[in-house]
Amino acid sequence: ALVTTTEMFEKAYTGGYAIGAFNVNNMEIVQGITEAAGELRSPLILQVSAGARKYANHTYLTKLVEAALIENDIPIALHLDHGDDFEICKACIDGGFTSVMIDGSNHSFKENIEITRRVVDYAHERGVVVEGELGKLAGVEDDVNVSAEDASYTHPDEVEEFVSRTNVDSLAIAIGTSHGAYKFKPGHNPVLRFDILDEITKRIPEFPIVLHGASSVSQEYVKIIQENGGNLSDAIGIPEEMLRRAAKSAVCKINIDTDLRLAMTAGIRQVLFKNPAIFDPREYLKVGRSNIKDVVAHKIVNVLGSDGKA
Ligand code: G3H
Ligand code: 13P
Ligand code: NA
Ligand code: ZN
Repeated sequence: ALVTTTEMFEKAYTGGYAIGAFNVNNMEIVQGITEAAGELRSPLILQVSAGARKYANHTYLTKLVEAALIENDIPIALHLDHGDDFEICKACIDGGFTSVMIDGSNHSFKENIEITRRVVDYAHERGVVVEGELGKLAGVEDDVNVSAEDASYTHPDEVEEFVSRTNVDSLAIAIGTSHGAYKFKPGHNPVLRFDILDEITKRIPEFPIVLHGASSVSQEYVKIIQENGGNLSDAIGIPEEMLRRAAKSAVCKINIDTDLRLAMTAGIRQVLFKNPAIFDPREYLKVGRSNIKDVVAHKIVNVLGSDGKA
């Protein structure tokens, strides 16, 4: 059934696991993710970015998710990823989403509270939940490019006021993750600031925390891409061990997009590079889809711990 994240997060918080939030852009991605979650009886968040709505169109994406709900008997929340203004949040709330993110993290603290509060008021009246963000992740997303110098960890001192003044339902924080395939410089040890997460949890106990930029950038898929005509040198992600630790904590939602992109691209490249005569799109898309299913199943069982929780 199509649900909000409220009950998912309550159960994840007390159960010491996290829900995977996977970005969707086309039918094969929706199918790969939902088949894995359906077979493993895992609750799921499917998230749509502004870029996804531009690429595939709002109606197609919501109808694909409706189809997935008919085919798979699990709770699924349909979420707007990184809404950057009131209008896109409103369009998704009016257009059947059960959850939206208003990302005011590039505004001042005061403006972030104002814009988030406005979205929350509109959403809650309509039974939709809202994710806010404090702190800036490095990396590229849609039109926003945050350099490593401009990135900043969430200030634990701000979270209590932000949550109480906005009435948001969950909070995305910055503790060292970043968007995309190049999260750490080669030769540098990946660091996540679990001390900041602990401090935040002390200020807002029981409150669901969201981790963006949480792909692990499987070196297996990077290698396949490299060996089949691609170029992804120095792609590095978040070690799975750190994500397992996060999933057991107050973190209730873990966002994954890059790992799906790598899985799909590795599959498609492998087929096309090895079989130059293939031109039936089904021949390569089905391998991309199958890789997405594999990667999501792996996350659910080995990283998130959400299997059997549907
Ligand atoms: O956080 C960004 C997500 O990976 C979505 O990326 O804006 O290119 O669709 P996108
Ligand atoms: P990755 O780029 O690490 O997959 O992060 C995705 C994300 O945070 C979507 O909001
Ligand atoms: Na958790
Ligand atoms: Zn994100």
